[in-house]
Amino acid sequence: MTTHRPLACVILAAGKGTRMKSDLPKVLHRVAGRPMVGHVLAAVKALDPDHVVVVVGPGMDDVAAAVAPYPTAVQQEQRGTADAVRSAFGLLEGFSGDVVVLYGDTPLVTPDTLRAMVAARRQASDPAVVVLGMRPDDPGAYGRLILNARGGLEKIVEYLDATEEERRVGLCNAGLMAFDGARMFELINRIGNSNAKGEYYLTDVVQIARGDGMACAVVEAAPAEVVGVNSRAELAEVEKLIQRRLRKAAMDNGATLTDPDSVTFSVDTRLGRDVVVGPFVVFGSGVTVGDRVEIKSFSHLEQVRIDTGAQIGPYARLRPGAEIGPDAHIGNFVEIKNAKIEAGAKVNHLTYIGDARVGAKANIGAGTITCNYDGFAKSHTDIGAGAFIGSNSALVAPVRVGDGAIVGAGSVVTTDVEGDALVVARGRQQAYSGWARRFRERKQAEKAKKA
Ligand code: UD1
Ligand code: MG
Repeated sequence: MTTHRPLACVILAAGKGTRMKSDLPKVLHRVAGRPMVGHVLAAVKALDPDHVVVVVGPGMDDVAAAVAPYPTAVQQEQRGTADAVRSAFGLLEGFSGDVVVLYGDTPLVTPDTLRAMVAARRQASDPAVVVLGMRPDDPGAYGRLILNARGGLEKIVEYLDATEEERRVGLCNAGLMAFDGARMFELINRIGNSNAKGEYYLTDVVQIARGDGMACAVVEAAPAEVVGVNSRAELAEVEKLIQRRLRKAAMDNGATLTDPDSVTFSVDTRLGRDVVVGPFVVFGSGVTVGDRVEIKSFSHLEQVRIDTGAQIGPYARLRPGAEIGPDAHIGNFVEIKNAKIEAGAKVNHLTYIGDARVGAKANIGAGTITCNYDGFAKSHTDIGAGAFIGSNSALVAPVRVGDGAIVGAGSVVTTDVEGDALVVARGRQQAYSGWARRFRERKQAEKAKKA
């Protein structure tokens, strides 16, 4: 029987992210609809750790709120990654087990890689530190991993402090490390700040451990998994990488994407089987799509539930709180917000449905508008099952149209319509025989007189 060896994870998120040139803390910038730090937490959660601590800067209450219920430790001054880890020591007091340190700005790391790091930490050679390495095409300004003749990790040099020769090394520091908790506190406390930036670099821990004769090891990850985000360009790069991952997962799970490269997903998008997604569809956060739904090109969806067999778009805009029932049709230039469209209902053209229910099999004509807002409050429109709303009608909420009722085209409906009734709420049509001809004749006569 093996005993459970405890695991703690520390996520560093206190950096100001100066290079982002943003008022938003770096780790709250979103990737596939979720803040970067949320991605890191999701990967960490998959390891079921005993402790998680997120290190934030002073006043970063929005980061603390984003990571709740996980506790945060405050790093008072951003004096470097080693100092950041030290800020978490208070919350880890008395902990013995393994500690994985992650960066909040490295959002694509997978649970498998974290598991590989922990496994390497626990191997027989008992390394004090395991560093995650990578070999990116362009090593740029990443720290470099310097190995000894036996292939063990000897030290990490930050780019700014590296010699020309060291800069030619392709093996880079991805940033993540796994420590033996029993040795970590003492090793990190010995890190100083005599370097190009005058910061306390966590990376110095390797040289210190080696000086004491402790083993240090490297686990390599695919570069695409450990891209660090320090600028908007890198944020875009990471977005591109995660979109590639999400498109592949969607197809692996049985969706057809006719032009995968143009579809944008959120990390929480849920697609059923045999869903077909056309070109340039955007899934904002919180979208769930049932089996056999087709979403045609240029549709934009956010916080929406779509039931089996529904047809959406092209050019549909489904906003938060839209619920589309089974086999319903939502067509081009239709906007739906906070509304339930029940089974088999059709809203096919040029329509706004907000704060409403559209009953089963109802048919909403082109140009229908639910007037849900009077400048002060939002009001509800209820359209019964099988109702028929003629084109270009305005339904002034609060208002109900009963089951099976017909609203004549061009109506402005301000009071409830009873079931199975016909309501026509527009100027009555008047016809004047010969009027147009007489009008033309009179105008032509006037013109001739003037000439
Ligand atoms: C760091 C590594 C570098 C590695 C790269 C990988 C160090 C010294 N350097 O450089 O070797 O190649 O990541 O992406 O570790 N942070 C704090 N408090 C601080 C400073 C940073 O919490 O005082 C946090 C940041 O919020 C960020 C992470 O630590 O999430 C990394 O900091 P960053 O400044 O981005 O380090 P890099 O220059 O990218
Ligand atoms: Mg970084």
